Amino acid sequence: MPDILLLHGPNLNLLGTREPGIYGACTLEEINHSALSRCTAVGARLETLQSNSESELISRVQLSGTDGTRFIVINPAAFTHTSVALRDALAAVGLPFIEVHLSNVHAREPFRRQSFFSDLAQAVVCGLGPRGYETAVDVALEQIGFRGAPA
Ligand code: DQA
Repeated sequence: MPDILLLHGPNLNLLGTREPGIYGACTLEEINHSALSRCTAVGARLETLQSNSESELISRVQLSGTDGTRFIVINPAAFTHTSVALRDALAAVGLPFIEVHLSNVHAREPFRRQSFFSDLAQAVVCGLGPRGYETAVDVALEQIGFRGAPA
C-alpha cells in the first residue's frame, strides 16, 4: 500500500549506459534511491516498478485503484507515444499522476511530441534529467499532505 507509486517504462532499466548523451549517466537505481530518500524522510511509503512490459504496467496501475496508492509518478518512456491502453488504465483508476521524462521530448524527433498521457496528467516534467523525478516526487508528497517534503 504505497503512498506514491513510481513507475518506469521500457528501456529505463538501461539508464546509465543507454544513450548517455540524451539520458545522462544516472542509473535507475540512483533515481529510485533518491525518490525513496525523499519519501522516507517524511514518513511516506514509496513503491517503484520498472517494466518493459505494457501488460505489467497496466496491471500495476489497475491495482493502484484499490490498494491505497494515493499518487502516481510515471515515466511511460516509449509507451508515452504509443499506449492508449496504459492511458486508459490511468484514466480508469483516476489517481492524480505526474508524467516525467528525462529528456526534453519536444526538442527531439517529431513523434516524441505526442503523448497519450499529458492531457490527463496533473503536470508534465521533461528535460530536467533525474531532477525531474525529484521535483515530481516532492510535489506529489506535498499534494498528499506530507508537509516538510524536501525541496
Ligand atoms: C523518455 C522519452 C521517450 O520518448 C523515450 O521513448 C524514452 C524515455 C525520457 O525519459 O526522456 O524511453 O520518456
